[in-house]
Amino acid sequence: MTNKKDNVFLRSKQWFNEPSHPDMTALYVERYMNYGLTREELQSDRPIIGIAQTGSDLTPCNRHHKVLAERIKDGIRDAGGIPMEFPVHPIAEQTRRPTAALDRNLAYLGLVEILHGYPLDGVVLTTGCDKTTPACLMAAGTTDLPSIVFSGGPMLNGYYKGDLIGSGTVLWHARNLLAAGEIDYEDFMEMTTSASPSIGHCNTMGTALSMNAIAETLGMSLPSCASIPAPYQERAQMAYKTGKRIVDMVKEDLRPSKIMTKQAFENAIVVSSALGASSNCPPHLIAIARHIGIDLKLEDWQSIGEHIPLLVNCMPAGKYLGEDFHRAGGVPAVMNELSKAGKIHTDCLTVTGETMGKNLVKFPNTNPDVIYSYDNPLKSRAGFIVLSGNFFDNAIIKMSVVGEKFQKTYLSKPGEENSFEARAIVFEGPEDYHSRINDPSLDIDENCILVIRGNGTVGYPGSAEVVNMAPPAKLIKQGIDELPCLGDGRQSGTSASPSILNMSPESAVGGGISLLQTNDKLRIDLNLRKVDVLISEQELQDRQKQSKPNFPKSQTPWQEIYRSMVGQLSTGGCLEPATLYFNVTHNSNLP
Ligand code: FES
Ligand code: MG
Repeated sequence: MTNKKDNVFLRSKQWFNEPSHPDMTALYVERYMNYGLTREELQSDRPIIGIAQTGSDLTPCNRHHKVLAERIKDGIRDAGGIPMEFPVHPIAEQTRRPTAALDRNLAYLGLVEILHGYPLDGVVLTTGCDKTTPACLMAAGTTDLPSIVFSGGPMLNGYYKGDLIGSGTVLWHARNLLAAGEIDYEDFMEMTTSASPSIGHCNTMGTALSMNAIAETLGMSLPSCASIPAPYQERAQMAYKTGKRIVDMVKEDLRPSKIMTKQAFENAIVVSSALGASSNCPPHLIAIARHIGIDLKLEDWQSIGEHIPLLVNCMPAGKYLGEDFHRAGGVPAVMNELSKAGKIHTDCLTVTGETMGKNLVKFPNTNPDVIYSYDNPLKSRAGFIVLSGNFFDNAIIKMSVVGEKFQKTYLSKPGEENSFEARAIVFEGPEDYHSRINDPSLDIDENCILVIRGNGTVGYPGSAEVVNMAPPAKLIKQGIDELPCLGDGRQSGTSASPSILNMSPESAVGGGISLLQTNDKLRIDLNLRKVDVLISEQELQDRQKQSKPNFPKSQTPWQEIYRSMVGQLSTGGCLEPATLYFNVTHNSNLP
């Protein structure tokens, strides 16, 4: 348990109560009085607590935070703090072009500047839609200002004609039905929009729910915060409790660096596997770690998480949604199952001021069909495999969603046939894929692998979520509704596509994926964690000599700045210079 100090140093007093600079102090104080705050409030020993508002009309998944912020403020006030709400650069996963990922680092940068440059003693980070959560946690890491995550929660369960359907996941299914001519445009629209019946973020175990679960696993939100559905009364109650708690965290000087330790990140990898979490979690978690000075590598996902079984029966790896997950006990119940198997560091400190182990005691697993036990899991070895090959350094595959073809090589024993070969069909980005996937001259059959490139952090700035490509309509009509895919981009966390993705280095910076040609043979062996192109070394070198890495022109200043500083997905897709700054709110003297 952390200790509360009554005479804790409040950095906000450098603005609001600095007797040696009365002129500046007056300037700082007076404008915050113009909407009704009093001098007594601003110049007392009451912590000023920021509320980083990620909701707006442009970010519908987080929009209800605008209402919930009022309950956060009630909590802050009741605990003796003074709330100040401010906007975070919007990130809407489903709308932002060219990619929402482009804005994770922009929102992060903006938030760092706000937390550092304004009179704040602590902050409530409102999170939800995919990249809003890592952006906030990255800023918490860089600044090391006392911070607590308040998730927005998933939407209620979606239904279509009586069947449970999940946001995103239904889209990948419905597009196949549309391609096969089994439904028309009206049915397609009705089916896909029915998956989003209320306020909240995606109700599947996509990137949003996965990343909020990770925030909770890291110890950065109150227990059970990630999974409470957005419209539930508990969500608004959690807002109040979160607001109350941050004030005491300031008094306890309980900062992110004391919570987000290496052990906490290891817990996050283990929990990600058990959740069947989004394939976007590896880059986001690595980015958060790097911004707090922790050395987390892609290879850690292999060594720490690959052997962990799938415990959570949620789409896309399973059949339920966030509402069921919450009712079954949510993140703490999953961590309890993992803890019984000795897979969790229980002594990590959390925002409660208590250890994770102590927090977990109150949360049993109440539905074994939604949260399985470690000894009787939904699927064994369900984490991410980290692959390499003769034309790339690394890529990942999410084992919790892979089907028969990959699974066969994965589970084979030494001496058995343990690899398969596939004919590559290569696309230069999503536009090319859409225009040519049904081209008969490609002669795509069930022994093909669909390859897409030009979609990494530099190529399609931010990196596009496009690797989960559907087969051509003629195969879908024959009942083949998925093919292996491979690419240097990402894929939606809501997708169950068997894809080798996040390949680094990407084609735009000269990665070997740029050398592949349609009809090349690829050999895939998940036991050896290898994907090789079956051409001679000489041929690879010849192709290398001919190749000229390129990418489309930047359309905005930020795209250009982003491209000049961003790293690859394997190291988190960070702005590299930003990873050199730690603890900025404590290490620097204010000007
Ligand atoms: Fe925002 Fe899925 S689109 S959470
Ligand atoms: Mg996504």
